[in-house]
Amino acid sequence: MKLHIDDSTNSAKELYYQSLVLLFLPCEKFGENDTTNSLYVKAFQENGKNYVDITFNVDGQISSCSDVQDIDNKVFSQMKNLIGRTILKAAFKLFKIVPPWGISTGVKPVKLARIFVKAFGSDETERILRDEYMVLPHKAKMAVYACLFEDSVMENMGDKACSLYVSIPFCPTKCNYCSFVSCTTPRLLSLIPQYLEALDDELQRIADTINELKLNLKSIYVGGGTPAILSSREIDNLLSSVYSKFSFDNRCEFTFEAGRPDCITEDKLKVLSQYNVPRISINTQTTNDSVLKSIGRNHTSIDYFKVMESAMKFGFKCINTDLIAGLPGESPESFFKSLRDVEAFSPQNITVHSFTLKRSSNYRMGGETGYSLSFQDAVNMTDYASQYMLEKGYNPYYVYRQKNTIGNLENVGYSVAGFESIYNIIMMGEYHTVFGAGAGSVTKIVSEEGNRVDRIFSPKYPYEFLDKTKYSGFDKDAVFKIIRER
Ligand SMILES: C[S@@+](CC[C@H](N)C(=O)[O-])C[C@H]1O[C@@H](n2cnc3c(N)ncnc32)[C@H](O)[C@@H]1O
Ligand code: SF4
Repeated sequence: MKLHIDDSTNSAKELYYQSLVLLFLPCEKFGENDTTNSLYVKAFQENGKNYVDITFNVDGQISSCSDVQDIDNKVFSQMKNLIGRTILKAAFKLFKIVPPWGISTGVKPVKLARIFVKAFGSDETERILRDEYMVLPHKAKMAVYACLFEDSVMENMGDKACSLYVSIPFCPTKCNYCSFVSCTTPRLLSLIPQYLEALDDELQRIADTINELKLNLKSIYVGGGTPAILSSREIDNLLSSVYSKFSFDNRCEFTFEAGRPDCITEDKLKVLSQYNVPRISINTQTTNDSVLKSIGRNHTSIDYFKVMESAMKFGFKCINTDLIAGLPGESPESFFKSLRDVEAFSPQNITVHSFTLKRSSNYRMGGETGYSLSFQDAVNMTDYASQYMLEKGYNPYYVYRQKNTIGNLENVGYSVAGFESIYNIIMMGEYHTVFGAGAGSVTKIVSEEGNRVDRIFSPKYPYEFLDKTKYSGFDKDAVFKIIRER
């Protein structure tokens, strides 16, 4: 698509226009030479008013829309929002699509809600999101709920808080949709013992750093990849290392993202329960067996059910299951069934992701063999999830979006009250320092005022992490240097 932007107020960046177009044409490429599709925007101010004219030309179909509004300097991003709304109205005539999040396109809808909650309270924020941003009422409610919940978590966080992420970037096989670092070949999997040794050293350095900075650990997350790929002895050693090196009390959240049911055994669950790990994640993504097969998950719905039954017997305080709405081959009905199947175990947390087409995954968009999902099906899946979860007593405590998600739909952490995962909130909001241990992890050092984040990246792959000529372990000095020089 060719963009002609003639905005004398310079209210929006090109990326904003692109993200709005992508709501309707998810595969669209942007370039000066496109002679088929175009978006024309004219925006200017005159006699105390904002004027916007939009013309969309898509495959020879033309739709135009204009709007005018009194300039009100109290309204946040008024011209940008007017342009956005007018684009959506013009696009509706062509596509008959109503994007559920309207013109709010960033990955953090909660951040937008917070701007207004602080100034005007929650009811007025919902109204602003609806009227100014064209967010559908139930999504506006969700963003405000998650915002208030986050605020309450942060109020009770206490001083000098920090968190720890431990990366286990190995998986039994690669799921076709996934873009996370996950080593699956026998050669890479054979590095696990060496990797765990190096990780042990890295954890000690991080524990020393936390002690010297006199920080308090509030959450620990062992994630991946698939941490349950480790043998029960390796899990035992890893947990023993974490429990002995770090000081934290039982108010510190601890998640072991066990992951795929095909790696989780009774023995491994027993080790986790012996260490009183309070929160584990057992993910299925869908309980539709033909979809599980086609996405390369290497487990069946029955495997998931058996592992859940087993985990229930061990009495973990909180079990989470991840689902993905809109997987290739999934119909709305089979997604609804997946949700009901998972909810039947009454896990304390269910996280519903919206399918995102990742460039480095095995899927491509469109074409005869490519991924396609109707916009309305994707919307119906997430709408069903939010309604059903509310009926079953779960709240949407954590909401974010990813780029390239059909319909700009959201990922939502649903939780029974009192079991919400604070790690997810901290990571997304960058509220306090999170130390990353292991390959592919990132240490984010957040300033005490919360207004600055510095990042230290670990090597992406285990073989780089183990290469002493390239990486000599967690760099404590780099952390102190960053803090000193602020
Ligand atoms: C880092 S992955 C690790 C999960 C674990 N290895 C497993 O598969 O059970 C965390 C979650 O991200 C979600 N996810 C990964 N790729 C995704 C995609 N392309 N679209 C939507 N969600 C995705 C899945 O729900 C997955 O459980
Ligand atoms: S979804 Fe999980 S198991 Fe599958 S490749 Fe990604 S990290 Fe590994």
